[in-house]
Amino acid sequence: MVDVDSFVDEKVSEIAEAVGDANAVIALSGGVDSSTAAALAYEAVGDQLTPVYVDTGLMRKGETDQVRETFAYMDSLRVVDARDRFLDALAGATDPEEKRHAIGEQFIREFETVAREVDADYLVQGTIYPDRIESEGTIKSHHNVGGLPERIDFEGIVEPMRDLYKDEVREVARALDLEAVVSERMPFPGPGLAVRIIGEVTEEKLAVTREANHVVEEELADYEPWQALAAVIGKATGVKGDNRVHGWVVAVRSVESRDGMTARAQEIDWETLQRIQSRITGENENVSRVLYDVTHKPPATIEYE
Ligand code: XMP
Repeated sequence: MVDVDSFVDEKVSEIAEAVGDANAVIALSGGVDSSTAAALAYEAVGDQLTPVYVDTGLMRKGETDQVRETFAYMDSLRVVDARDRFLDALAGATDPEEKRHAIGEQFIREFETVAREVDADYLVQGTIYPDRIESEGTIKSHHNVGGLPERIDFEGIVEPMRDLYKDEVREVARALDLEAVVSERMPFPGPGLAVRIIGEVTEEKLAVTREANHVVEEELADYEPWQALAAVIGKATGVKGDNRVHGWVVAVRSVESRDGMTARAQEIDWETLQRIQSRITGENENVSRVLYDVTHKPPATIEYE
């Protein structure tokens, strides 16, 4: 990307030309990629674009409200409350790929309903360069809307940021005046908190994970990590008050990276780690331990599933 303003002008014209008088949809996740793509496309075609935000219940704390606020200026924004349907779809699923598949399928169903309702001919996606590289391999089934074009016969798919890296997307987001909470937001996986829960996703584990992720994001903001996260990885014995409890084990992870393809675990000072530990165990009586993950990628991945 040579110059961010010319990039924006060029993409806005390209999208306007591609979509013409037709209707378009975009899946808005709250993350920087889809938010930036939506802002670009909205600038190009206004309310001919329907941004669809599916609340899967697997989102970060406050994320749904944040999306409503940020995109309140788009009259065509749709927020779909699908929390119960996602929990149902995930019930009993313990295998990581099975979980991803269940989420992807449900997501497509939700999105498809709106796409048909608004008679969308075009699908806009916030795909960026590293996504395409990872999807070409067999590392994991990656995209939430990946199966959609087979279900709906779109006239075209528009991916204005397909050649950009994440830091370039952030530049575009700033040029479009997206708030800092969006432009500087850490990447968050499509399947959401489900990849930060080992085994079955339950309401209880989700609540623990959501709160722990919030604590970690807050406490580690000054380290400016590429991603900082918390995952519920199992159960272990602990003592709370006078009782032995078999509580949740929460792993905390904070990494530096440019594109998510490789990453380095960050060195965090002991006091900060202890503060995280005490907030997570203090705020949730069912958490018995907090661990810090020192593994780079490779050999580990950034997420836990
Ligand atoms: P891993 O865990 O494979 O993650 O090291 C690399 C980057 O990709 C994000 N990630 C995903 N993003 N759908 C997504 O849209 C997914 O299924 C998915 N899995 C991981 C992860 O958060 C990290 O930034």
